[in-house]
Amino acid sequence: MVMTARGRGGVCPPRIGQRQAAKRGKGYPKIGFFARRITKVKLAPGFLDDNSLEKSPSDSYNADQQPLFFRPGPPARPKPLSKGTPVKIVNILGSPRKNGTSARIARAFTETAATYGATITEYPLNSMHYRGCQGCEGCHTRSERCVLLDDVTAVLDDLHRADIVVFSAPVYFGDTCGQFKSFYDRMWSLIRTDAGEDERGSRLLPGKTAVLILTHVDAAGAHDDVVQRYTLHLELFGFEVRPLVATGLRLQSSADVDAQLSAAAALARELVRAG
Ligand SMILES: Cc1cc2nc3c(=O)[nH]c(=O)nc-3n(C[C@H](O)[C@H](O)[C@H](O)COP(=O)(O)O)c2cc1C
Repeated sequence: MVMTARGRGGVCPPRIGQRQAAKRGKGYPKIGFFARRITKVKLAPGFLDDNSLEKSPSDSYNADQQPLFFRPGPPARPKPLSKGTPVKIVNILGSPRKNGTSARIARAFTETAATYGATITEYPLNSMHYRGCQGCEGCHTRSERCVLLDDVTAVLDDLHRADIVVFSAPVYFGDTCGQFKSFYDRMWSLIRTDAGEDERGSRLLPGKTAVLILTHVDAAGAHDDVVQRYTLHLELFGFEVRPLVATGLRLQSSADVDAQLSAAAALARELVRAG
């Protein structure tokens, strides 16, 4: 039997974690706390203890049954960005290389967007402290959000507020790099299990755009499966996906990258100026 998440709508804090939050005395969640400033502060671990994970009913998830998330439901219709409101962009940098190709393309997008008034929150995953999904299913049994409390908590919260999310990562051994994949797995908590047949299975509101930036050294087309899989997932989460793929790269800058930087800037003008 697939357990349904408690209640509908809204995001309620998990019961577990409230004690830690109270200790911090700053309320929960502390939105955006870890963005950018993460490298400058000493972080409390904030992880759940392993005992609490064991309390999760492991028999509550039946892997044989297709999660409702993967049922089509009506498509998410992108809504026009509201005039006058600054476009909020969340920039998730997956590469360990701070100024690597994917980061440069992502910043070409965000820096252009900023000139049109967009607000940018940057999350350099490699500088953050977090664990990958523990598969505890707490997000579908005990809470409506990921029950792990760490630096990714703020990122997941911010996805609810974002108009545009930039997901960037290099391809490592035929998938995204580990830093990105570990974050991405935590997006499992954004899947609704209480959606009916005709409802979308995403806890994110529709109308968001995902800019998916992937880079690899192999020739164009070599990792199209990665592009297609991530595009499919993000569409199921309700995003309209705009991929930017830089291929055939050496680790150094190349003309290909220059073309991608221009494409990223053009995409920012298209998406943000339209708002
Ligand atoms: C551990 C590792 C695994 C990699 N695996 C692949 C691969 O399977 N296919 C590929 O085309 N490139 C692979 N690469 C190359 C990276 O995808 C490439 O350097 C990427 O463009 C770097 O992006 P970045 O500058 O944004 O970090 C790998 C690199 C590393 C370090």
